Amino acid sequence: MNSQCHSATTKPETAPGARATHPLDPLSIDELQQAAEIIRRGQGLADSCRFPYLQLEEPDKAEVLAFVPGQPFSRRAFATVLDKASGAMAEGIVDLNAGEVSAWRELDPAEAGQAPIMVEEFFTCVEIVQNDPAWREAVKKRGLTDADIENIQIDPWSFGYYGDDPKYQGKRLMRGVAFYRDKFTDNGYAHPIEGLVAIIDLNEGKVIELLDDGRNTPVPETKRNYDTPSLGESREGLKPLHIVQPEGVSFSVDGWKVSWQNWQFRVGFTPREGLVLNQLSYTDGDKTRPIIYRASVTDMAVPYSDTAINHYWKCAFDGGEYGLGRLANQLELGCDCLGAIRYFDIPAVDDKGEPFLMKNAVCMHEEDFGTLWKHYEFRTNVFEVRRSRRLVISFFCTVGNYDYGFYWYLYQDGTIQLETKLTGIIQTAGMVSGTTPAHGGKVTPEIYGPTHQHFFNARLHMMLDGENNSVMETNFSPSPAGEDNPWGNVFRTDARVLKTEQEAAREANGQSGRFWKIINPNVKNAVGNPTGYKLVAEHNPVMLAHADSYVGRRAGFASKHLWVTPYDPQQRYGSGNYPNQNKGDGFPYYAEKDRSIENTDIVVWHTYGHTHVCKPEDFPVMPVEYVGFTLKPNNFFDANPAMDVPGGKDSGSVNASGGDDACCSKP
Ligand code: NI
Repeated sequence: MNSQCHSATTKPETAPGARATHPLDPLSIDELQQAAEIIRRGQGLADSCRFPYLQLEEPDKAEVLAFVPGQPFSRRAFATVLDKASGAMAEGIVDLNAGEVSAWRELDPAEAGQAPIMVEEFFTCVEIVQNDPAWREAVKKRGLTDADIENIQIDPWSFGYYGDDPKYQGKRLMRGVAFYRDKFTDNGYAHPIEGLVAIIDLNEGKVIELLDDGRNTPVPETKRNYDTPSLGESREGLKPLHIVQPEGVSFSVDGWKVSWQNWQFRVGFTPREGLVLNQLSYTDGDKTRPIIYRASVTDMAVPYSDTAINHYWKCAFDGGEYGLGRLANQLELGCDCLGAIRYFDIPAVDDKGEPFLMKNAVCMHEEDFGTLWKHYEFRTNVFEVRRSRRLVISFFCTVGNYDYGFYWYLYQDGTIQLETKLTGIIQTAGMVSGTTPAHGGKVTPEIYGPTHQHFFNARLHMMLDGENNSVMETNFSPSPAGEDNPWGNVFRTDARVLKTEQEAAREANGQSGRFWKIINPNVKNAVGNPTGYKLVAEHNPVMLAHADSYVGRRAGFASKHLWVTPYDPQQRYGSGNYPNQNKGDGFPYYAEKDRSIENTDIVVWHTYGHTHVCKPEDFPVMPVEYVGFTLKPNNFFDANPAMDVPGGKDSGSVNASGGDDACCSKP
């Protein structure tokens, strides 16, 4: 750890091996061990079998809602098993209470899609490519030597799906693209080897095809390293900035349950989604009001808009093909998270099903967030201001070249926000100096970044004041001039309930101020309106690849900003269960039946993202780009729920001159 990183930490109260006390508690180290063992024994697994997934099989929602603390509850594990020797794939459920496999089914990867790429495959893929004679020959044609090859970086990429070519069918495939490094620690992305892609059969353990466009684009030579020694002298002038909470934190943690400022939720974590917020609720007076049953990001899609053989097939599903949770970082105190930090260590398994603890994978702390509310009444000299505090719960993962942070924020006024941070290194492409790339932005005179999009699929299983919810859409438009609008200043507000899945497949519209609101039509607030939360979408793009292109069909969730489905336990991921080498699953297929979504148990799916035209400022490491969405209470409360937040010294906020009460409140 960098010696300049300082922060306090609070100690976890629960050991990761401890017994679960709630049906949604992630599986402990002991339970993971037990589950893997039961499957190995029960199914007679060979040594060549791997566990791309092993996690809690979440109980039925009805069981969770009926749960009484202290009473027994079901405890099940879900596993996806892949036999590396035969390519066979299966899914199983383990009943941990009974100590047996309670369900087992074989899957045909050609139909179901391949299990996600495992960590060991990242490494075997590199070895396979580097030892392939034809690939070595192709690299040498580009002016590199045998000695150079040892330091070459291979980026292992998901294969994608480009038709039922028999030579690929049923095979577990990856693609390898290469980057030259003079030294092992160099930033390979500064030296892309263009026009050369190896296709690897992971089960066969060999390169089955080499794509070489023969252009021999020169390998860019200028080093662009970003490790501290390479960066040289740091800028000067930064004085220490300490964030201290001398009396400790304002949240409390009981196992996986968190309480803070009227909020309650349970921390969950899966290998695919990473952080999950379960049973998010807000205590309003003497009532604890449920808002969201389960919230997560189920997948991403990052399609590239380039025709070159190194890039046209690139579309990373970082959740379903790699695993946002599986690739979570161990966060550094004081560097990743500043302040009084509570970390959650996440029990997980490696590819072979051996449990281990992902240390410091989830970070939680409080942050000052400027002004919560304020007014100065000049006639009476009444002056009131409250500072806003937010609870941050987050994780960061590294998926190849990119790094993604997922930050949930809870605010004292009932606002919920998900902010996603995009950073890391762009995928680079070599070009002839002085030319202009057709499908990307120049980042150096010899490198361009192919233009691409990043899409995130958030899944919000709503439970606003109860299980039956609806979604309304509002649009604004000018009222026609006339008797009802003599001054031409009036505009219309048109709100309607989206009644079916097809009606709810919607795109945002900034011009009409379109927004969506999740409501409970059965519960009214003090002014007689159904209680609601507004989904505030940002200025997001939708997928620009054709809907009927291979990529368009695989990442159909990104063709709309909004999808709403009736809750179906089988529909859990925007891109389907196994997007790896899958021809298309998830949306729009989930919504095909056009089921009713009115006044029922609904899931709101929101696609948000960013279209990335690369530029010099993105290199060598990109400053964080922010995308996300907000859920704001809208007729949920009877008044501003944060009027009772204390001002002055009681707020816990101390100003620069030492916490003068008069700055926050004048009687
Ligand atoms: Ni990007």
